[in-house]
Amino acid sequence: MNMKKAKMILEKDFKVSEIDERIYGSFIEHLGRAVYGGIYEPGHQLADENGFRKDVIEMVKELGVPLVRYPGGNFVSGYNWEDGVGPREHRPRRLDLAWRTTETNEIGTNEFMQWAKLVNAEVNMAVNLGTRGIDAARNLVEYCNHPSGSYYSDLRISHGVKEPYNIKTWCLGNEMDGPWQIGHKTAEEYGRIACETAKVMKWVDPTIELVACGSSNRSMPTFAEWEATVLDHTYEHVDYISLHQYYGNRDNDIANYLAQSLEMDDFIRSVISIADYIKAKKRSKKTINLSFDEWNVWYHSNEADKLIEPWAIAPPQLEDHYNFEDALLVGCMLITMLKHVDRLKIACLAQLVNVIAPIMTEENGVAWKQTIYYPFMHASKYGRGIALNPIISSPKYDSKDFTDVSYLESTAVYNEEKEELTIFAVNRDLEEALQMECNIRNFDGYQLVEHIVLENENVKQTNAAKKANVAPHSNGNAVLENGIITAQIPKLSWNVIRLAKR
Ligand code: AHR
Repeated sequence: MNMKKAKMILEKDFKVSEIDERIYGSFIEHLGRAVYGGIYEPGHQLADENGFRKDVIEMVKELGVPLVRYPGGNFVSGYNWEDGVGPREHRPRRLDLAWRTTETNEIGTNEFMQWAKLVNAEVNMAVNLGTRGIDAARNLVEYCNHPSGSYYSDLRISHGVKEPYNIKTWCLGNEMDGPWQIGHKTAEEYGRIACETAKVMKWVDPTIELVACGSSNRSMPTFAEWEATVLDHTYEHVDYISLHQYYGNRDNDIANYLAQSLEMDDFIRSVISIADYIKAKKRSKKTINLSFDEWNVWYHSNEADKLIEPWAIAPPQLEDHYNFEDALLVGCMLITMLKHVDRLKIACLAQLVNVIAPIMTEENGVAWKQTIYYPFMHASKYGRGIALNPIISSPKYDSKDFTDVSYLESTAVYNEEKEELTIFAVNRDLEEALQMECNIRNFDGYQLVEHIVLENENVKQTNAAKKANVAPHSNGNAVLENGIITAQIPKLSWNVIRLAKR
């Protein structure tokens, strides 16, 4: 059989940029069973003395998540952070209007910071710009980051936390362009409050970095104009503009579904252009970078969520059970982000546990890995160092919404310090394997370590508790000879080809 062929050239000097490890961030919102029943289940046999599930901690550590966004999401736009600190018996129960549930406030800022430490992650803290504003935001920065000698820093100390957390990254609200948001705003309204809040938060702690809300997704009617207006107001006070995007295979058209990362690519390019337009307009020396602080597949659970009774405590919301094709798209999205790390400095897989998540838990039972766990773990583990800019030629196809979609979606990361080179590749072809030839001409002395493959005959295959139906193997057939890697990239597969200098 005449196989389709793709070629790739990798040069050490063809660099996109050093990768900011925060692109392997994730997200825990007070939503569904993410916090209660996810990271925290005090009665569980594997819970530690604070109620945190040790099996979940281990899986999060295996994913190597360096940053976790918290506490929302839509939730943050109605959240009083003061409800979640101090003695538990005094914490109020509140109606969470974002998700129509009851929030017990059993977990709040200090407990979450404690958990983040256990998983070796920094926190990307969001402030409420829906129902609250400048005052609550500056007080929270003071509570978290000021050493002592002021009302809120001393309050933190009185809550048993002597040292400040020094939280570096902060989000100025969440999806404020969305009519579903508590306290939804026009771009002008949000731009003004984000600017004033940013200014004052940095007066409390000048070392922090701030993320302004971009559009909730690329299809929002206000997209582009929103970013331009918000950055016009906030440019000199913020450091990042956010992007959010979720995809789904609603039409059951896999060729088109897997091409959606091209839209993500276009979205990233567009936001860079808008940020640079404002830079030019302001004749500013400063460059605004990107925080893709919500991205994933989200659609499987939409119908089930409509049946949930309001005001329950931690009901099973947004519990997408991911299948094999979802893992392939997540792989394509990761590769897409790696192509833009010169401007993309933060990204958060939304979310981390139970809620549209790579990790699921059973109540009183096991934790298990969804299909999407694997591409994320591989990228986070092997995708540290310098993102390279490969020259790729691949056969292409057209789908319902996209033209010229490469069958081969690929990129590579060079870890100078560890002397490792890793190629990430997805074959989008439904029918055939792809014969890939990759020239690594100036990586002298490098040898093949392993060729990991995630593949499955059934694109709809999911995992479940104690059922790892979709899991990677290391039997890929890549070989390296005279500086050329040849590998068969199986039809519909995620591949990690690892090399190291011996
Ligand atoms: O991640 C789930 C929700 O998606 C978040 O709360 C919101 O920001 C987005 O719409």
